[in-house]
Amino acid sequence: MTIFADHAEQLCVPILANDQLAKDTYRVRLDASELAARAVPGQFFMVRLSGCNDPLIARALALFDRCSGLELVYLAKGKFTTRLARMQPGELVDVTGPLGNGFSNQPVDHLIMVAGGIGQTPFLAVAREALGLQSFGLPARTSGYAKRVSFCYGVRSADHLAGLDLFQQAGVAMHVATEDGSIGPPQRVTSPLEKLLLEENGDTTRVVVCGPEPMMEAVAHLAHKYHVPCEVSLETPMACGIGICFTCVARIGSQDDWDYKRTCVEGPVFKAEDVVW
Ligand SMILES: Cc1cc2nc3c(=O)[nH]c(=O)nc-3n(C[C@H](O)[C@H](O)[C@H](O)COP(=O)(O)OP(=O)(O)OC[C@H]3O[C@@H](n4cnc5c(N)ncnc54)[C@H](O)[C@@H]3O)c2cc1C
Ligand code: FES
Repeated sequence: MTIFADHAEQLCVPILANDQLAKDTYRVRLDASELAARAVPGQFFMVRLSGCNDPLIARALALFDRCSGLELVYLAKGKFTTRLARMQPGELVDVTGPLGNGFSNQPVDHLIMVAGGIGQTPFLAVAREALGLQSFGLPARTSGYAKRVSFCYGVRSADHLAGLDLFQQAGVAMHVATEDGSIGPPQRVTSPLEKLLLEENGDTTRVVVCGPEPMMEAVAHLAHKYHVPCEVSLETPMACGIGICFTCVARIGSQDDWDYKRTCVEGPVFKAEDVVW
């Protein structure tokens, strides 16, 4: 389904707080509760620094939480995010959203969330909605659609883990994988995922994944191998975020019959089986 930006709004809002959560990882709270209230998990916002032309183009950031304003989590790595990390409460940003489609909320016994690094940002909201702890969207869409939620969270090293306590408080079963072995054996996130998929005992299961593309492709193949439906949230670079520029296209369809779809309005969430990697 194509979600155009008709319901999005652009606001210039102050930063309420901008705190470090983990190595190079920050949570910014924006005074934009009304935008956050409309968003469903997996939707995103285009954010730019008010009155600053470098970078000129806004960046997409996924809804992280909406407990106190619009909460976004970001990895400080490039032009926009390193500048955002230096901003103080009271400084202004331009925010447009909510945008994109978001993850589905079809009933399921076991929802398995899989993230690589900063790809974790949509999943606190996903978990809270799935477990019925919080409702999202206006009007609020159905929450409490999963009996249990597991989270396979892969990072390079333990110091990159962000918001673990929040996931645990929500009642999510955590399965952390560190590439350097700083927690448990050195492993990729596909290892705990495959273990979980092997243990499935007839419950309906769905995998949702966000992170670097090779990791999402590996997760999509694993889900296919175990006949489990999988949704991927693509992170193709975006310029406009509202369906005009076609910078964000991904190949969607089948190997023999695909078309370019815009991740910002036809995604960012797609069925894994429809993505031509
Ligand atoms: C739907 C969606 C949701 C997203 N959600 C989040 C989120 O919740 N949190 C988050 O942190 N990000 C998220 N992103 C990614 C985000 O939009 C930005 O792309 C990201 O934050 C980097 O922006 P930046 O300006 O800091 O980096 P940029 O300056 O744009 O750089 C991006 C990368 O390219 C490298 N690079 C930059 N310039 C060059 C160059 N000249 N040569 C070689 N390499 C270069 C940088 O080192 C960096 O690794 C999301 C993206 C999408 C599409
Ligand atoms: S970012 Fe412009 S069409 Fe998607």
